[in-house]
Amino acid sequence: MKKYTPICANFPHFLHGGDYNPEQWIQTPEIWETDMKLMKEANCNEMTVGIFSWAEIEKEEGKFDFSWLDTIMDKIYENGGRVILATPSGARPQWLAEKYPEVLRVLPNKQRIECGYRHNHCYTSPIYREKVRIINEMLAERYAKHPALAGWHLSNEYNGACYCSLCTEKFQEWLREKYSNDIEKLNHAWWTRFWSHRYDKFEQINPPKESEMGGEGGTNGLNLDWKRFVSDQTIDFAQKEAESIRKYSDKAITTNCLGIYAGYDHRKMAKCLDVYSNDFYPAWFKGTEAEAKAVAFVCALCRGMKDGKPFMVMESAPGINIWGMNFRKIKTTGQQILEAFLYIANGADTLQYFQWRKGRGSGEKFHGAVVDHYGGTDNRVFQTVKKIGSYLKKMDGVIGTGIEAQVAITYDYDTRWALDGEAEIKWSSRKNGYQKMTNAFFYALWEQNIAADIIGYDTDFSKYKIVCLPVPYLMDEKIATKIKTYVEKGGTIIATYLTAVANDTDLCYLGGVPGAGLRELFGLRVDEVDNYEEEGCVYQNHVQYQGKEYPVESIAEEIIAEGATPLAWYQQGEHKGNPAVLENRYGKGKAYYIGFAGNDTFLYDFMKTLLQQTNMHPDSEFTAQKGVHIMHRQGDGQHYYFVLNCTDDTKEVTLHKKLWNLLEEKEETGVMKLAPCGVKIYYEQKKEN
Ligand code: GLA
Ligand code: ZN
Repeated sequence: MKKYTPICANFPHFLHGGDYNPEQWIQTPEIWETDMKLMKEANCNEMTVGIFSWAEIEKEEGKFDFSWLDTIMDKIYENGGRVILATPSGARPQWLAEKYPEVLRVLPNKQRIECGYRHNHCYTSPIYREKVRIINEMLAERYAKHPALAGWHLSNEYNGACYCSLCTEKFQEWLREKYSNDIEKLNHAWWTRFWSHRYDKFEQINPPKESEMGGEGGTNGLNLDWKRFVSDQTIDFAQKEAESIRKYSDKAITTNCLGIYAGYDHRKMAKCLDVYSNDFYPAWFKGTEAEAKAVAFVCALCRGMKDGKPFMVMESAPGINIWGMNFRKIKTTGQQILEAFLYIANGADTLQYFQWRKGRGSGEKFHGAVVDHYGGTDNRVFQTVKKIGSYLKKMDGVIGTGIEAQVAITYDYDTRWALDGEAEIKWSSRKNGYQKMTNAFFYALWEQNIAADIIGYDTDFSKYKIVCLPVPYLMDEKIATKIKTYVEKGGTIIATYLTAVANDTDLCYLGGVPGAGLRELFGLRVDEVDNYEEEGCVYQNHVQYQGKEYPVESIAEEIIAEGATPLAWYQQGEHKGNPAVLENRYGKGKAYYIGFAGNDTFLYDFMKTLLQQTNMHPDSEFTAQKGVHIMHRQGDGQHYYFVLNCTDDTKEVTLHKKLWNLLEEKEETGVMKLAPCGVKIYYEQKKEN
């Protein structure tokens, strides 16, 4: 495979730095001088500036002062660094809210908030959009050609929803367009004859509410369309921000996304960005192995956002991360280093922190930073960052390399919204079920050192040998056809319980589940859905697969085979002896159906067999002990193997050939020891086929 173009074309190195708030030190510019010295000393080469600077740039409406920002941009450049410049829409000056209250977000109970906190503006307000456009264009025009500029950072962690009248009207307009201005189309799609909820006109429709708040909340189609609308409106806001920058600058545009946050469709957001970036805050106190795989999952999600293209780690915590002013358990030095390389091993091309320097006051003064209140360099966090920076300097060649995965797992935001929505009406087993099941597939492969991509339904399936569809409850007929074609041509699909139950407005399919024409693909029909997870349930069930028993954790579907071959059977209850897992040949491929929610061991064993059958193995260059994970990045014939000890114990890995140890700069072969959280990167050049 070919290398991807670097994020920053004229700076093909790992950007290593992070959020810098020089405006908080505007009265002590000597701190700025110190920052420059420390930045070099920490082996950092990047600063993300301007995220929350609006009040310092536009103190009065229409009066702009960029002088301090000019100084900072120049200083960083003179120091050999680069800047990711942010648009300031994440928080607004007091005067703006005072003069134009419509920019302030309205809560579901219709209460307008006061100015404060952040990330709480109305995404619809024409005034807010205009004020953001003006300052963005001024920033873009002024700094487009500045030699320090490496790229753009739109706003900050877009999130949330607004319930003001402007947003409500916009929602109605969005619905009018979606349902061709035909209220009866909407009434059918939302099944509103239920409980007499029929609408006579679009003007009657309000955003959904939690049931305690009164109003409408039990119409699944409404809930789902509201999530789609909020997502579209957030992305439209971001898109407009991007347009105001693109008018003057051709540098890469991104925004810092939020991992598995589902307030908007990240895949759609990614389309208006040149590069995808994410903020990572792993909770290492939960255990090294558990967190490492959770990080790898989010990395795979990020990588999939732009079809495998490397992404940016826009934020991560140097040292502790503080939420709600609680000190957290510190990370070990090993965990901090492992974290850095987990990102890169899994497809990141930058390493940035929140934050460069701790502020003296307000909400994040105790949050981990490269520079502590202490101000010196002889502290553990500073020294660790410096060490990581020294490693990154040896890794320019990794930039632009990709990961060639042969397995993909789908992750669809509409499906997640629909399933989370069902949880709200207390179908408890589905709560977080989508996330859990998607993770479970990924972890089963991670444990076997098989790389997996997390993809959307719009991704080309044909490059994968196996595509896993965790809980594909919501199924559009077009997607169903795409899945069938993929299998017909030789692909392998694995789907789980609750496959194609409902269409895209959450109307259940008639004529048997899986719906949307997928019954023939899987060669079966689901009769009943049982659930063992109910509070107070005294019954248990198990599934027997290849002579081993696995517990049913929640859902257990009663399945009637219609041509499919059973591979596993229920052991108890009403379903005793009936199939729980089935295989069906379809065209040149195979479709597997897992009808129950089991534990991780089942999925591990099931995938293991399937990987053997499809002739898929981990990289043959290594044999690693359990807990050691190997990720392989490549491009233009250059191969980088990241060997990561994701445990707190010493582990061994055997190299079956001579490889170049990139960080220690020597050739190695045979049995190697890896310290707890230890990382090694091996390099080799191969001929491209
Ligand atoms: C988020 C924000 C940052 C900062 C960090 C603290 O990710 O984007 O501004 O508040 O959290 O962890
Ligand atoms: Zn609003």
